[in-house]
Amino acid sequence: MDFDTTGKVCLDHIYTAPDPCEYYSTLGRLDYCIPQLAKPYFETLLDRYRHSTGTPSPMVLDIGCSYGVNAALLKLDLSLEELYEHYSTVTGAGGPRRNELLDRDRALARTRRVPTGPRVVGLDSSAPALSYAAAAGFLDGIVHADLEAHDPSPAQRTALSTAEIVISTGCVGYVTDQTITRIIDATDGRMPWMAHFVLRMFPFDAIGESLADRGYETVRLERLFRQRRFASPEEQSLVLDTLSDIGVDPTGTEDSGWLHAELFLSRPPVGASRHLADLGATATPFRVRSGSGAGSPRG
Ligand SMILES: C[S@@+](CC[C@H](N)C(=O)[O-])C[C@H]1O[C@@H](n2cnc3c(N)ncnc32)[C@H](O)[C@@H]1O
Repeated sequence: MDFDTTGKVCLDHIYTAPDPCEYYSTLGRLDYCIPQLAKPYFETLLDRYRHSTGTPSPMVLDIGCSYGVNAALLKLDLSLEELYEHYSTVTGAGGPRRNELLDRDRALARTRRVPTGPRVVGLDSSAPALSYAAAAGFLDGIVHADLEAHDPSPAQRTALSTAEIVISTGCVGYVTDQTITRIIDATDGRMPWMAHFVLRMFPFDAIGESLADRGYETVRLERLFRQRRFASPEEQSLVLDTLSDIGVDPTGTEDSGWLHAELFLSRPPVGASRHLADLGATATPFRVRSGSGAGSPRG
């Protein structure tokens, strides 16, 4: 197993395959569950946005969307368990397997669509994952870009500018404040709402600070979310070291075998705390820790 500089196991190969089978089989074995736990929070935020703005089908931008897992969960009447099952029953390999899967996924996207679901644009640096998710009918638009490294092109900027709600699961760490600020800057002051599920090993400070500079208020929910099991004792040990370095107490959480994430919600100041009542949890205003290691959490 290879590990990145934070101690997390390197799974990059599962995000760049021509079809999602390896993604779902690998993550299923690790009991990856954050998209499913995130789903009711994203849905409540969508409802709140519809109510506040009168927009029936808000445009969601999913950063690091991969094969469209969040889009599938939000637009279709489906659970992550069903998706794990769905992709576990495929045979063959290569192009024929991809075509067989796409046929099944297009049927799924047609038959299980929730009429009130949002539109979802996916941003990812993986062309194969985006191309699959769009062809399957999970995504309404794609932005193939690495906004860590580059400003968006004019066409990418136009696509990003439509975002009304920006979400992510499992992606902060790969992306930083660079990507978030480039997205906000592309929306020309419209300030899309944001909901990011972030592993505790990746400080949110630099993103929170950039959002505050642009007029956002951010809160962190007072609960933690299991993301997945550690891939090995070695990964757990390395991540516990990272958490210790940044002063995060793993008692009862990461030391029990699971990576844990927090939910950060950011939106323009008007009524910033009001929508939290709908999320059924307490939350505290997010303040940047002084002297924290803000910047790229991947080191
Ligand atoms: C851990 S996966 C999370 C995928 C999905 N959101 C989920 O919850 O399963 C991280 C994703 O971020 C993408 N990614 C990595 N670096 C990126 C970047 N600089 N910009 C956009 N996406 C990136 C990867 O291709 C991958 O699809």
